[in-house]
Amino acid sequence: MSDQVQEREHFGSKLGVIMASAGSAIGLGNIWKFPYEAGKNGGAAFIIIYLGAIVLVGMAIMIAEYVIGRRGGKNAVGSFKALAPKSLWWIPGLMGVIAAVAILSFYGVVAGWTFEYLFQAAKNSFAGQTPDALSAQFTSFIQHPYRPVFWQLLFMGITCVVILSGIKKGIERYTEILMPVLFVVILILAIRSITLPGGGEGVRFIFHPDFSKIDGQTILNALGLAFFSLSLGLGAIITYGSYVKKNDNLISTSIEVIVLDTVIAILAGLAIFPAVFAYGIEPGSGPSLVFITLPNVFQQMPGGMLWGILFFLLLAVAALTSSVSLLEVVTAYVSEELKMKRRTAIFISASVITVVGVFCSLSQGNFNSLRIFGLNIFDFLDTLASNYLLPIGGMLISLFVGWRMKKEDLLDELSNGGLLKIYAFGLLRFTLRYIAPAAILFVFMNKIGLI
Ligand code: PHE
Repeated sequence: MSDQVQEREHFGSKLGVIMASAGSAIGLGNIWKFPYEAGKNGGAAFIIIYLGAIVLVGMAIMIAEYVIGRRGGKNAVGSFKALAPKSLWWIPGLMGVIAAVAILSFYGVVAGWTFEYLFQAAKNSFAGQTPDALSAQFTSFIQHPYRPVFWQLLFMGITCVVILSGIKKGIERYTEILMPVLFVVILILAIRSITLPGGGEGVRFIFHPDFSKIDGQTILNALGLAFFSLSLGLGAIITYGSYVKKNDNLISTSIEVIVLDTVIAILAGLAIFPAVFAYGIEPGSGPSLVFITLPNVFQQMPGGMLWGILFFLLLAVAALTSSVSLLEVVTAYVSEELKMKRRTAIFISASVITVVGVFCSLSQGNFNSLRIFGLNIFDFLDTLASNYLLPIGGMLISLFVGWRMKKEDLLDELSNGGLLKIYAFGLLRFTLRYIAPAAILFVFMNKIGLI
């Protein structure tokens, strides 16, 4: 073993692992992206496909990532190299690192928006505004030449500080306390939203499916969102898995993380859609949806200003625990594979990501006309990562654990060397070998019109 492997930290407790992984999973993906994608793609039918993707594909791939990470004991690339030396299996790992760079570039921008909204909430500037005025306020803010960039830089700086303080202190500590608080706040917002006059229509929107709105593109969007929201397909869970102790239960950890992530997404939907209908906001408004909807809800609550502050503060923290995991994918790779000090690796990774991120931010305004495949930089990086790199990465991870890894090794890792009883091992392995890869392939072929 090299020195670097021996230096590696480990998460302190089982709860710490779940909380850190849930911290990675729960973030803007659940609270910002899930509602707006569901709104754009027709509501309930999209949500059902999203849930189907989680059960059929996501669950097995999360377990597979933990297995690769803990058994390989290294970053996304190094773990593949350790388990399959002298092969090309490091390629999915590297794709993951690229995906992490792409995602964090725009993720930092949206996280910066939450800072602005926190600031606006603290100034009580949503009070008394009409839905249209709130919408105009959002648009003019994201198009501003330097305001969003300022918040983005601040957010990326904080991400670096957390990562510098190490895995255990940096990540575990924040998530253990703040995630449960986030849960309660979203629950309260959901109750307020559902009980708004006219809110019932929003509940219908998320629970009554209309499959006529579904096509190849919406299915791909649902699959991509499932990967994005669960932090799968790019080695974030591989990297975290490498910090998991040998006696933690990987299967139950995965299930708990997935349940928490999914519950938060649905609750976010319940907080947003009733209000969307109550205030006559367009459900397909896109990325602005959360930012223009919830400020209306806060106004209907006693102590509205405080709810706004609390919500955007917690959303920023949720974004932070996710951005930390994204930066960790890149940092662990750069420091271990390119043999650099961790500090230097953090600095280099964060700088590259931030520079790309500034272009993402500017692409909402002045640089909007700069297009790649018809998309601005922000949307291009999101589509590239969520709809292509993550599902393809996930498919390769699934194939790796299903076919390349020996059955005995998989069983050994899942059962902690025979200590745990593993139920449905055959089903899990079958899913990794056939179901998950076939489902992902199907979605792509369907998208390009082959099926
Ligand atoms: N899952 C995170 C979210 O929902 C985003 C993320 C994606 C984090 C991929 C790590 C890896 O916000």
